[in-house]
Amino acid sequence: MVTAFAPGKCILFGEHAVVYGQPAVAVSIDAGVEVTISESNKWSLEGMPFEPSRHPHISHIINDIFQYSGSPLEIDVKSGLFSAAGLGSSAALSNSMGAALHHLTKPEEPLDLISLARIGHSAEANAQKGRASPTDTATSALGGCVVVSGERVEGTEHIFDSTLETPEGSRSWSICRAALPELEDIWIVLGFTGIGSPTGKMVAGVSELIEREPQRMDDIRAIGEITSSGLESLSEGNMEGVGLAMNSCHERLRNIGVSCPEIEGLISAVQNHSLGAKLTGAGGGGCMVSLTRHPRRVAECIEIAGGKPLISKLGSGGARILPQ
Ligand code: PMV
Repeated sequence: MVTAFAPGKCILFGEHAVVYGQPAVAVSIDAGVEVTISESNKWSLEGMPFEPSRHPHISHIINDIFQYSGSPLEIDVKSGLFSAAGLGSSAALSNSMGAALHHLTKPEEPLDLISLARIGHSAEANAQKGRASPTDTATSALGGCVVVSGERVEGTEHIFDSTLETPEGSRSWSICRAALPELEDIWIVLGFTGIGSPTGKMVAGVSELIEREPQRMDDIRAIGEITSSGLESLSEGNMEGVGLAMNSCHERLRNIGVSCPEIEGLISAVQNHSLGAKLTGAGGGGCMVSLTRHPRRVAECIEIAGGKPLISKLGSGGARILPQ
C-alpha cells in the first residue's frame, strides 16, 4: 500500500495576465489531495468499480505515462480542497496519483519532483483538450513559491522549462522558484464563494473584452508590473507591501471583468483584518484570498459573509510519499 500527498495552490499575483506572457506567482497551500493505492484483485476507485473514461487524469497517468500492467489497483482519494474553486484540485490529484504509482512501481527510486510536475501537467493537458498552464502542477509538485512566465524572472531560481502543443500552437513557460522568508505570523485565508470557477469561460471573456477595448491591455501590463513589485516585497518579507500589491492587482482584475458580486462581498468582509485581499484563480466565482496576521478573525468574517474559509501558511511542502 502506498499513500502520497500533493498540495493545492493559491495564485498570489498574475492570473489572466500570465495568459498574455506576464509572470504569475503562486504558493502551495497546506490542504491538498491524498491518494492511497494498493494491489487488489479488481480495479476500484473509492470502493466503486473504476471507470477510466470518467477519470481522465487518473487513467492517463496509469495507462499513458506509466503504461502500468501490474495487478489491478484499489484507489482511494481524500481531498481537503474545494473543487472547481481555483485551488488546483485536479493538479493535486494528478500529482499525488503520479507520486503514489511511482513509489509502488519503483520503490527504490526517489521521487523526482520535476518529473512529477511534468506528469501532472501532461494529465491536465490531456483532460483539458491540450490547454493547461503548468502553474498548478508545478506549484503542487515543488511546493513553496513558484513563478511561471514566458521569460525567466530576475531574482528567482530557474527550475525547468515546459512546452506544450496546444490547439493554438506551441506554448512555452519558464518555471522558477522564489525564496520565501520566514513568515511566522503571516497566513493566507481563502474564501470560497461556493460558485464553480469556469477557467475556460473567464479566459475567453478577457480575450473578447481586449478585442472590443484594446486599451484593456494596459490593465494586463499593469498586473505584470504589480506582480513584479509584489514578488519583490514578498522576497524581502515586506508583507505590508505584498498586501498593497494584492489590493492593486484586484482592482486591475476587476477592470478586466473577472470579479463578481460574491467575491466582492467576501473581500469587503475581510478588509479590516487583512493586509491585502484579492480574487485568486480565474474569478467569476471560485475563491478570494486574504493575507493576514489574524487568520481566525478573517475566517469568521468569511463565514458570516456566506463563504467557506480555508486557513493556510504560505508555501508549505510539495508532493510527497506519506509514511504508512
Ligand atoms: O484555473 P485557476 O482558477 O487556477 O486559474 C487559472 C489562471 C488563469 O490565469 C486565469 C488561466 C491560466 O491558464 O493561467
